[in-house]
Amino acid sequence: MEREKYVAPMLTDGFLQELRSILPADAILTSEEDRLRYGHDETEDLSFPPQVAVRPRTTKEVAQVVQLCSRHAIPITPIGARTGLSGGALSVRGGVGLTLDRMDAIVEIDERNLQVTVEPGVITQVLQEAVAAKGLYYAPDPSSRGSCSIGGNLAENAGGPRAVKYGVTRDFVLNLEVVLPSGEVIWTGANTLKNSTGYDLTRLMVGSEGTLGIITKAVLRLVPMPKETRLMLVPFRDAQKACEAVSAVFRAGITPSALEFMERDAIDWTLRFVEGVNLTIAADTAAHLLIEVDGNHADVLMRECETILGVMEQFDCQEVLFAESTSEKDALWMMRRRVGEAVKSNSVYKEEDTVVPRYHLPDLLAKVKEVGARYGFKSVCYGHAGDGNLHVNIIKGDMPDKAWQNELPKAIREIFAYTVSLGGTLSGEHGIGLVQRPYMDIAFNTVQLDLMRGIKQLFDPKGIMNPGKVLP
Ligand code: LAC
Ligand code: ZN
Repeated sequence: MEREKYVAPMLTDGFLQELRSILPADAILTSEEDRLRYGHDETEDLSFPPQVAVRPRTTKEVAQVVQLCSRHAIPITPIGARTGLSGGALSVRGGVGLTLDRMDAIVEIDERNLQVTVEPGVITQVLQEAVAAKGLYYAPDPSSRGSCSIGGNLAENAGGPRAVKYGVTRDFVLNLEVVLPSGEVIWTGANTLKNSTGYDLTRLMVGSEGTLGIITKAVLRLVPMPKETRLMLVPFRDAQKACEAVSAVFRAGITPSALEFMERDAIDWTLRFVEGVNLTIAADTAAHLLIEVDGNHADVLMRECETILGVMEQFDCQEVLFAESTSEKDALWMMRRRVGEAVKSNSVYKEEDTVVPRYHLPDLLAKVKEVGARYGFKSVCYGHAGDGNLHVNIIKGDMPDKAWQNELPKAIREIFAYTVSLGGTLSGEHGIGLVQRPYMDIAFNTVQLDLMRGIKQLFDPKGIMNPGKVLP
């Protein structure tokens, strides 16, 4: 990827001295090793180390660091758990990398109101398990839940398989404490389920990828934990047919708690990559749907499964596998969660996060394959089919470096333009960050982009907060 030219800011002795007066010594990291550690996420093999990484423990410390950076016009990149796939946490202009990993408290689980207040560094799975112990459910469930943090989920508006029934991260957020680029601290809303009071700063902040401020606390909505789940893996000889079956499920009156699509390669590569999944796939299987329903009544779920099965048969499915036990369910989910890693371990690749209205999923898949055939790349596609969200992993394989650098962006443009023509957009859940920024003109015209630039300017007139991201 072509690097933006920038001049790293001078971190003067005065600046560093002030930093040391705000934070204890062990919260200021300047070694090469630390800077490299905080300079990458899971986006391709990109590395953009900050000049100094800081690990504040409190909102006050975050605010003081931001005030200091504001006075000295030093860029700050908020950093979560560095599992992002669009480069949102990379310090592309040097400066301060501010990691929230020490702010990892679950402040309060309010069982009376079904709410939880957390700090941004809480690992998503830790939160899920803490509320599950009280019979409550935090449904956003990114594949990286074991290592990603709520702060990063908020910044990128993460989704995952359960979004199809329960909504994405944004739909679970009631109120946020934010340190603005000026260093002032605000709450964005109220701890209520409804709120028609003024502009919705909460929803604006979620998904703004750390460009408008740093989230230091979040009040999240919870739902009761469903008591039962049923999970089935449905193979198809024809990947198109699998995609066509997706929207038919909803039209049959069922909202599954997950409806995932995986091309053959996604499963094959993952089965080679992980241990402990015992699965035989027929030679002529081209794709799978992984379908889950949840609820409180086994008999209702049974009837829903029968309805789904009826739909699948209309689309020429092969023999359906029902996960009988918890361990079988866990194995299938583990396999699904690790597809991204498996692809990454296999080849240099580029990941797109296209999303379309779900009925158009088959058209999107066909286009990806057609563009691939023309430009000479293979792709492995999988994702949250129920949301029309297709992760397109473009595999470098034998593609010459020159074509990878010069031709591939044209192919991606074609895919994105087609996605938008279907009523879709560039990213469903991974964000724009650094790597999708050059394509924003496909989704938005200058009127729209100027509005966004105006918002950025209002929040961050000095342009210090995660510069070089989102807006072209
Ligand atoms: C997934 C991540 C890559 O769906 O979003 O596995
Ligand atoms: Zn995903």
